[in-house]
Amino acid sequence: MIHAVYPGSFDPLHNGHLDIIRRANKIYDRLTVAVLHNPLKDRYLFDVDERVAIVEDVVKGLRGVEVDSFGGLLADYMRRVRATVIVKGLRVISDFEVELQMAHLNRQLNPSVETTFIMTATRWSYVSSTRVKEIARYGADVSKLVPPAAQRKLRERFESSVAG
Ligand code: PNS
Repeated sequence: MIHAVYPGSFDPLHNGHLDIIRRANKIYDRLTVAVLHNPLKDRYLFDVDERVAIVEDVVKGLRGVEVDSFGGLLADYMRRVRATVIVKGLRVISDFEVELQMAHLNRQLNPSVETTFIMTATRWSYVSSTRVKEIARYGADVSKLVPPAAQRKLRERFESSVAG
């Protein structure tokens, strides 16, 4: 049985992430979406509980998919949950450069782990959480870019502040 982990900030989860989750779910027996808990809280728009809640809402119909959060090194988390495969999405060449480095380092830190890459679907290849937040902050429609749970949270967060 292969237990895979799809780690990320998911601040918030967008349709590109969801596409990777659905496709990885078809490949692996068990998939954990692992939301990074970072002590430097100001880096994120949503705290870890909010980011986890969005992912949980979105994946609730997907059998074999779980949601968790983690802090510290991913390599250590993989050991803790006895998972052997890291799943990452690749959109563009610049993603690859960052991911290649992380894959090598993660394997050095935990040699029983393999990193696998799924090419993001073309229609989501231009979507990032950073851009989604930027658009939502100015009150524009992000319904084509994120699932409804994320859209609701973004609206909630920004409705009280005009242009944030
Ligand atoms: O969605 P992101 O921000 O691109 O996800 C990055 C993430 C969470 C996968 C990466 O930052 C990570 O694995 N962080 C945990 C700390 C760690 O293990 N760092 C060393 C990687 S070699």
